[in-house]
Amino acid sequence: MTSHTYDIIDFDPEIFVQQYWQKKPCIIRKLFPNFQDPIDADSLAGLALEEDIDARIVSFADEQWDVHQGPFTADDINENCVGSWTLMVQGVDNYLPQTKALTEKFAFIPHWRFDDLLVTYSVAGGGVGAHYDEYDVFIVQGMGQRRWQVGHKLNSSHEKLYPHAHLQQVKPFQPIIDIVMLPGDVLYIPPFYPHQGKSITECFNYSVGFRAPNQSELLQGLADGILDNDLLTKRFSDPNRVITHKRSAVNGHDIFVLKQLLHQFIDLDETDYLLTEMLSKTYHPIHDEYALESPHSSSEMLRMINAGLTIAPNLGLRPLYPEHQTNEFFVFFINGRRYEADALDRPFFERLLNETKLKVTPSERLQFSSVNIIAELVNEGFYEVLD
Ligand code: SIN
Ligand code: CO
Repeated sequence: MTSHTYDIIDFDPEIFVQQYWQKKPCIIRKLFPNFQDPIDADSLAGLALEEDIDARIVSFADEQWDVHQGPFTADDINENCVGSWTLMVQGVDNYLPQTKALTEKFAFIPHWRFDDLLVTYSVAGGGVGAHYDEYDVFIVQGMGQRRWQVGHKLNSSHEKLYPHAHLQQVKPFQPIIDIVMLPGDVLYIPPFYPHQGKSITECFNYSVGFRAPNQSELLQGLADGILDNDLLTKRFSDPNRVITHKRSAVNGHDIFVLKQLLHQFIDLDETDYLLTEMLSKTYHPIHDEYALESPHSSSEMLRMINAGLTIAPNLGLRPLYPEHQTNEFFVFFINGRRYEADALDRPFFERLLNETKLKVTPSERLQFSSVNIIAELVNEGFYEVLD
């Protein structure tokens, strides 16, 4: 198969999602025309020094792969950036407002599926080798040129290798896509498609990564919510038991009833909320320094709304709500925190949660409880007031 099979010339999100999302890789040339890097190498290295940032250096020197995990000191960076090296910094979307344009391009995929923006800087020859990821990723080419190859979806003929304890690679690797990416080009890779990028020149790449929970993560997340909320106290009971001659056996009926107990829980309306709450917790926490030192009172907020107020989500914010809700409250979650607004103001809150900024005017005729929530959102630093 030749690489042009996978080319997309005009990017249309609808066609992309129908034909490519989770199905096959593709190249989107010049999705970002006249691309300008939102960061330079020194600033990326500066971010890698931050205490709570997830950074890695992967190098290949003297026929040896090496991986170092941050946070780094400036000396670590100097010592470990040897041979063909790559510096990778996760969660950059939470730190740099100028990366917003990159992630916003993919806003046709819901917030809860988005994971983070990984910024990669590599010198010529740099790369992490052929590997696969379990998540979807859009790799945006920044400065420089990089050769990207993508293979057939992982199958039993592939073998996993660990050239370093923290580096998983895969072989054999037969490319079905083999291209040189230029600034502004994008490569979409669905989960389990082996791929590798090798820099031809010094390069920046921006990986807009997604996540998808597995069953174990879902159950773990729900278990946390159940314990926190003291839910699900219904206990197994067996008034119709008959005697057993094999007391070590757990019979099929008992297993059936135990599973029923679990099913009943999964089907509860409250579980929709628990799931949404869990999904709203981000792996890469948003800054807490946005919280206001002198918080606004609700009446102050009302005055600000009366004077005409524009608010916008702060960096990295991913508010979520279950779409199907019929209660007297409209419930939404931010970073695992639950908010309950008067259902009368649901249309307003839906706009607030879905848009990148919102003008709030007295014509909204908001309930005072909603003004209170807006004040809380601003005071907590989840939303900022624009001038
Ligand atoms: C890289 O830019 O080399 C790593 C990104 C990836 O392959 O997931
Ligand atoms: Co990858």
